Amino acid sequence: MSWKRVCAAGEVAENTFRKFEVDGIAVIVANVGDGYRAFPPLCPHMAEPLVESGIYEDGVLTCTKHLWQWNLRTGDMVGLAERKLLMYEVKREGDDVLAYIERELAYEYHEEDELDDDDFFSGD
Ligand code: FES
Repeated sequence: MSWKRVCAAGEVAENTFRKFEVDGIAVIVANVGDGYRAFPPLCPHMAEPLVESGIYEDGVLTCTKHLWQWNLRTGDMVGLAERKLLMYEVKREGDDVLAYIERELAYEYHEEDELDDDDFFSGD
């Protein structure tokens, strides 16, 4: 793959993010004010869909599930986060936001991370 048009710049208002599909790959685009960021749709912690669990405020994306946070302007981890957010390279061309999608970026999750409360208390 290569540079792909993800959306029109106007589709993502400043300080918000939205999920799009590009050739079957789900990508979240965030408008951070001075530009756009694109990243996979799942939280790197326990695969929560960030469009549901994520809040974006003051340049910081927070997954409300366990409060991992990332500064979307710099890509840095903030607070409790223990894994970086994978990012696609992004550029703007005219009214379009493009991401460099060579392959789908995805996290590897370890089994102990996938236990939810029900598993934990089931006593198996
Ligand atoms: S699933 Fe997002 S912080 Fe735990």
